[in-house]
Amino acid sequence: MERLDKILAGTGRWSRREVKELVRAGRVSVNGVTARSPEEKWDRAGLDLRVDGVSVSGEKFLYLMLHKPAGYVSATEDPRQPTVLDLLPPHLRRVGLFPAGRLDGDTEGLMLLTNDGPLAHRLLSPKKHVDKTYFVRVAGTLDEDDQAAFAAGMVLGDGLACLPAGLEALPAPGEGIVTLREGKYHQIKRMLAARGKPVVYLKRLTMGPLTLDESLPQGSWRPLTPEELAALAALG
Ligand code: URA
Repeated sequence: MERLDKILAGTGRWSRREVKELVRAGRVSVNGVTARSPEEKWDRAGLDLRVDGVSVSGEKFLYLMLHKPAGYVSATEDPRQPTVLDLLPPHLRRVGLFPAGRLDGDTEGLMLLTNDGPLAHRLLSPKKHVDKTYFVRVAGTLDEDDQAAFAAGMVLGDGLACLPAGLEALPAPGEGIVTLREGKYHQIKRMLAARGKPVVYLKRLTMGPLTLDESLPQGSWRPLTPEELAALAALG
């Protein structure tokens, strides 16, 4: 049996003093129950030890769902602007997480942060046909001609050829759902600008089997559930 603070500090991610603060703040759980004291003694073997719900038992990869707010760039570092990693507690900024699929700085919504490169590749490769859906609001209204242009696969003024994409107009004027199978730079903004309908608001709702958890406030995150992990694993 070993003290909880010793086990946690032994991961190298926190000092003993930081561990004490984490436990005091109720952020540490042992076998599903919030730890009450850094002095609790446990047998390491088979222990389900979590900080902020994320396992610290030495799993190889982490998968976090983030509700990205506007004002954060999809990068791991940036000299001028805050990045999506700045929304995580310090110990999760040091484990190689990166955004699987970028969003523009002013785009909100579903973002997967992981350190599993092969999984990110499977999710993002156009060859895998993993759809991403976005809620969009434009200046103007969306009509059947826009829908037909998206479905046909647009070629933009600079020669960028887009794969066929979905566009569904919603009842409120200028609002719609866009479905993409690829993620080229500013793609939705460029496609809609080419239709003369500049985007004024954009939010990602889904990526393949993942749907933004609307109970997650903007700027917060949670680990993926076992069901979500299983759905990602099934992408093959
Ligand atoms: N298309 C865009 O234009 N921006 C995004 O952030 C995502 C898709």
